[in-house]
Amino acid sequence: MGKTSLITGATSGIGAAIASELLGRSDADDVIWLNYGHNDEAAEAFVREAPGEKRGQLRLLKADLSSYKEMCRMAEELKRNMEGLDRLVLNTGISLKEPFEEYDYEQWNRVLETNLSIPAFLVRELLPVMREGGSILFTGSYAGQQAYSSSVVYGVSKAGVHFLAKSLVKVLEPKKIRVNAIAPGFIQTPWHESRTEESRQRIERKIALHRFGTPGEVAQMACAILENEYMNGSVTDIHGGYDYF
Ligand SMILES: NC(=O)c1ccc[n+]([C@@H]2O[C@H](COP(=O)([O-])OP(=O)(O)OC[C@H]3O[C@@H](n4cnc5c(N)ncnc54)[C@H](OP(=O)(O)O)[C@@H]3O)[C@@H](O)[C@H]2O)c1
Repeated sequence: MGKTSLITGATSGIGAAIASELLGRSDADDVIWLNYGHNDEAAEAFVREAPGEKRGQLRLLKADLSSYKEMCRMAEELKRNMEGLDRLVLNTGISLKEPFEEYDYEQWNRVLETNLSIPAFLVRELLPVMREGGSILFTGSYAGQQAYSSSVVYGVSKAGVHFLAKSLVKVLEPKKIRVNAIAPGFIQTPWHESRTEESRQRIERKIALHRFGTPGEVAQMACAILENEYMNGSVTDIHGGYDYF
């Protein structure tokens, strides 16, 4: 039987790279569901640009995962259309540009809901279709390992994601489902599009490898963790040696 995967936030950046890496490693009867929230054009382009012989294995699934209601609707649609799920990658995430002193309560909650609460409940909704021996991977962040005053609520939400991954290990033990998280540092994706050159250079000086990571480098590690049958309850950093001075 082929393996079925779902990746949220799968049509750009890290999610798209994980989707490409999984597709490259896939067998012909594997299926990969790609969730995205808004940009139909980017989603369709991603599928169009996939290798022709593998394109038919991809399924697009639009749902705004900042909304609990939309997440539930997506989970219902998936349950109707799949027999079982082997791999679940919870990758959607948002941040705020404002400093802590300027957030309002709604903004704080929106980040926590999108990054932590909705992914947690998506896992719960999909548990009935998760197959024994399945694998779950959360995209956390190095900002959830190390506290930064410039991204307070984001860091808090990602620290929560890391702890959620560990906390689910015993919950999912009966079905032998493994749960892990990755904690990337600065990765070159549209997320950093509006960053000034000065800000980029300041960050690069703090990275021992003096460059941002590529989505492909993160995806290789993500897929290795998804596939490795002894990885469970781990949060794995990937940041090129950030702040090791
Ligand atoms: N880039 C970094 O330096 C970095 C570092 C550490 C951790 N991360 C984490 O990595 C993850 C991906 O970041 P990225 O840099 O790859 O971002 P990105 O390039 O901006 O891609 C974001 C993806 O998520 C989708 N998305 C955004 N909002 C969504 C929503 N409400 N519902 C469903 N899908 C949504 C986007 O599709 P639509 O636009 O169509 O909605 C897109 O496919 C995030 O969790 C982020 O926190 C990133």
